[in-house]
Amino acid sequence: MASERQALVALWLWLAVLTLATTLSSACPICSKNFQSNYSVTLNLKNNSITSLEGLQRPEYSNVVNLTMANNYLKFINESYLPRRLQALDVSGNGLTHFSKSLIAFLNVTNPTLSLSGNPWLCDCQLVDLYTFLRDPLRKMANSHPIMCDNSEPLLSLTEEQLCPTIQQPMVVVTIASTTVFLFLFFVLGTVSVYKYQQNIKVWFYTHQMCLWVIAKEEADKKKYDAFISYSNKDEEYVNNVLVPGLESGEPKYRVCLHYRDWVAGDYIQNQINQSIEDSHRTIVILSSNFIENVWGQIEFKTAHSKALKEKSKNIIVIVLGQVPPESEMDEELKLYLSTRTYLQSDHPRFWENLRYAMPHPQEFLYKKRAKTKKTEGLQMVQANGKAGS
Ligand SMILES: *[C@@H]1O[C@H](CO)[C@@H](O)[C@H](O)[C@H]1NC(C)=O
Ligand SMILES: *[C@@H]1O[C@H](CO)[C@@H](O)[C@H](O)[C@H]1NC(C)=O
Ligand SMILES: *[C@@H]1O[C@H](CO)[C@@H](O)[C@H](O)[C@H]1NC(C)=O
Ligand SMILES: *[C@@H]1O[C@H](CO)[C@@H](O)[C@H](O)[C@H]1NC(C)=O
Ligand SMILES: *[C@@H]1O[C@H](CO)[C@@H](O)[C@H](O)[C@H]1NC(C)=O
Repeated sequence: MASERQALVALWLWLAVLTLATTLSSACPICSKNFQSNYSVTLNLKNNSITSLEGLQRPEYSNVVNLTMANNYLKFINESYLPRRLQALDVSGNGLTHFSKSLIAFLNVTNPTLSLSGNPWLCDCQLVDLYTFLRDPLRKMANSHPIMCDNSEPLLSLTEEQLCPTIQQPMVVVTIASTTVFLFLFFVLGTVSVYKYQQNIKVWFYTHQMCLWVIAKEEADKKKYDAFISYSNKDEEYVNNVLVPGLESGEPKYRVCLHYRDWVAGDYIQNQINQSIEDSHRTIVILSSNFIENVWGQIEFKTAHSKALKEKSKNIIVIVLGQVPPESEMDEELKLYLSTRTYLQSDHPRFWENLRYAMPHPQEFLYKKRAKTKKTEGLQMVQANGKAGS
C-alpha cells in the first residue's frame, strides 16, 4: 500500500514538473524551442561598455525589434549582426563617426526608428550617404536630440555643399599654391629677361619710335658736335666710307668731329683731343689693333682718353672693328676702362640701331612723326649695309 502511494506521489510530482516546464517554456520566447514564433522583444543594453554587436545575429535574438544600445562604446556597426526585424535602433551616446554604405542599405530596407544623437559624427564627404539617407522623408527619427557634428553643428541643418564642398579645401590650396609659384616664376623670369635684354628692348622701342618716355634722354646742353670719333689713321677707310656717312646722312643727322677735318693745325695734340671731347656729346672710339698701337700707344692720346674715360665714361661708345683685339695687346688701364662698357661690334646685324640708340636723342627727333622716320631709316639702313659690304 505504502509503496503504491509513494509511486502515485512520484508520478504526480513528475507530471507537475512536466506541466510547469511546458508552461514556462511556452512563456519564454528566447529560452524555449518556440523562439521562432512571432514575438516582439525589446533588448535594452543601455549604459554598458559594449563595443560590438557581435552575437545579436544568433537565432535567439531574432525576435528583437527594439534594440537600445544607448551610452555604450560602439565605434562601428556591422549590419550583419543586427536583428532582421528591427523596428527601433537607439545607438545614441556612442563613439560613431560614420555609417558604412552596407549598413545604410540595410537600414534603407528595414527602416527602423533611429536615435543617432550624442555621437562624434565627422561631418565631411564620407557622411554624405548618411546625410541623404536621413533627409529622406520616409525616415523615422526618434524624437530626441538633433544629430550634431563633432564641430557642434546640427548635421541636418547643413546644406550638402557645406557638408562636402565640390571644390575641396586641399584642391583650393594646391591651386592657389601652384598659381602663386607660377606667377612668381613668371615674374622672376620676366624681370630677369627684361633686365638682361633691357638694352635690346630700349633699342627696339627707339628704332620703332614707341614708348619714347621710357628711353628718352635729352642732352642738357647744346654742344658743337654730337660725336668725336677717335681712330687710328689705318682705320680711316672704315670711318670715312661707312661710319661718317651713316651718321651724317641718317635720321636724325649727326654732326661729327673728325681730327683730320676739324682740328686746328699746329695746336698740341692733347689740347685738341681735350677740346674735341669737350665739344662733343659722345666720344666714339674705334677699337682695333691699329688703335691700340697707334693711338693708345701715344702718350698724348692716352692721357687725354684716360681723362675722358674717367670723367665722362657714360658718354663713350666703343666700336670694335673686326675682332676684339686680344687682351694681351691691351694694357691694364685700357682693359679696366673697356671692361666697364659694352662694345658695339661693327659687323653686328643691328649695329646701326644700337649705335643710333647710344647716340644723343635730339628732342625734335623724339617727337617726330613715326611714318616719316621709318621710311628714312629704312633707306639709311640699306645704304649703311651696302657700304659695310664694300
Ligand atoms: C507578426 O504578427 C502580426 C500580427 O499577428 C503580423 O502583422 C506581422 O506581420 C507578423 N510579423 C512577422 C515578421 O511574421
Ligand atoms: C544611463 O546613464 C545616463 C548618464 O550617462 C543616466 O542619465 C541614465 O539615467 C542612465 N540610465 C540607466 C537606465 O541607468
Ligand atoms: C519599440 O519601440 C517603439 C518606439 O520606438 C514602440 O512604439 C514599440 O512599442 C516598441 N516595441 C516593443 C516591443 O517594445
Ligand atoms: C561584418 O561581419 C561579417 C560576419 O562576421 C564579416 O564577414 C564582415 O567582414 C564584417 N564587416 C566588416 C566591415 O567588419
Ligand atoms: C533606398 O531604397 C530605395 C528603394 O527601395 C532606393 O530607391 C533608394 O535609393 C535607397 N536609398 C539608399 C540610400 O540606399
